[in-house]
Amino acid sequence: MVDVHWTKRSCCHLVLVLATWSIPAVVFVWSESTVPFVGLQALPGRAQSPAFLEPTVAPVAERPFIENFRPFDRSNLTTITTVSTTCSSALPSKSSVRTVYISSVYGWPTAGLLPSCPVPCHVTRDARLWRSADVIVWNLRWLTSSPQFMGATPSSKPRGQRWVANYDFEAPVHQPQRLMAELGRGIDWTAGFQTGSDFAKPHMKLAPLQEPGMVEKRNFAEGKDQLLLWFVSNCGPKDRINVFQQLASYLPASKVQRFGKCGGAFKDPCGNRFNVSCLKTSTRRFKFYAAFENTRCDGYITEKFTHGYQFGMVPIAWGGLSRADYEKVVPGSSFIHVDDFKDYKALANYLLKLDADDASYNKYFEWRTQYRMVDRDEIWDNVTCNLCMEAQKPWREQKRSRSDWNKGFFGRCKT
Ligand SMILES: *[C@@H]1O[C@H](CO)[C@@H](O)[C@H](O)[C@H]1NC(C)=O
Ligand SMILES: *[C@@H]1O[C@H](CO)[C@@H](O)[C@H](O)[C@H]1NC(C)=O
Ligand SMILES: *[C@@H]1O[C@H](CO)[C@@H](O)[C@H](O)[C@H]1NC(C)=O
Repeated sequence: MVDVHWTKRSCCHLVLVLATWSIPAVVFVWSESTVPFVGLQALPGRAQSPAFLEPTVAPVAERPFIENFRPFDRSNLTTITTVSTTCSSALPSKSSVRTVYISSVYGWPTAGLLPSCPVPCHVTRDARLWRSADVIVWNLRWLTSSPQFMGATPSSKPRGQRWVANYDFEAPVHQPQRLMAELGRGIDWTAGFQTGSDFAKPHMKLAPLQEPGMVEKRNFAEGKDQLLLWFVSNCGPKDRINVFQQLASYLPASKVQRFGKCGGAFKDPCGNRFNVSCLKTSTRRFKFYAAFENTRCDGYITEKFTHGYQFGMVPIAWGGLSRADYEKVVPGSSFIHVDDFKDYKALANYLLKLDADDASYNKYFEWRTQYRMVDRDEIWDNVTCNLCMEAQKPWREQKRSRSDWNKGFFGRCKT
């Protein structure tokens, strides 16, 4: 099974081989419960610890992952994949270019010279080049290749190289013990959604508009005759299903819709959760979106929350350690948090009140006159650039390495 994305972006056979070994099933499915778990543990001949057997690796589906994966247009970046497309064995001269090697099957799609970064910042995903990189970003869940295989251990880490721990898409509930043993001591910085990350990398955020107030006013209640929508297919985590059922029990059943595999008749109009054009259509009539996460961990806010901002619904958040996690990335007045209410009945009553009061409902959209949504890819690029800028400083002026990095990184969860 060869990942299309890799074949296009890299002609380097070694990388391809590694990627192939570590991708037992390249598949994209709606549910988090069935996202393929790939990485070091999937290499042939390695014993798998029980934690890594979850979530189950799904059989290869007809839809390749990468095609469905990128909701945002990255066409502007395809011209800059110099290293990966030329198979050059060296990175550009170190004196002029800071480099970041990223070891992650998913996400962080940039390769080549990063556009609009104040320092020259070269990104490669070619595992062979790891020794010459200034910074390595290790996605501890979805590594493209085995660090040991490449000879990357804390004791072989080149002088001056910085290692960054990263985790995306899922809360780090399955802490990769083996990787911790292999890489842990070598980690200097963290780049994750965790609120205390050295390089904060939320899934989305709002950023001030350059020309605030220029946005046309619109009635966001117009044409919406439905209340609550939820797309869910990972039926495992019971807490959030309970939250939904409780809340729905106080709302008119005809105005509540749950798409996906969990309970009731199977309805899945969009095929997957990144099918943007379909989501746009199927969310049009709903006022609120259930942004219920599968676990409540520090800063763990996913595309479910983004759907509200992207498709013009008010997100009802159930996630993070508290509302404060959300307020780090968006204004507090732009969303509702389940924790704000003493019980589900009170929340339901509040939704019904907003349903009958367009002016109050529209207050949740006022952020649009001041802010724009910053998508995941822009955040990724920005974090990469920040890493390059940090690495360009003399060693002594760089952020200090953190020996206690894994405490906040893995540990803080409510459920
Ligand atoms: C590059 O991005 C700009 C601005 O987002 C867009 O107008 C342009 O069409 C893009 N170029 C390509 C080749 O897609
Ligand atoms: C996206 O949704 C549309 C239905 O609106 C469907 O026809 C299409 O196959 C879906 N695309 C994918 C990649 O699932
Ligand atoms: C990029 O990173 C810098 C430094 O952390 C931050 O101040 C800025 O807001 C970020 N911009 C975006 C669009 O994320």
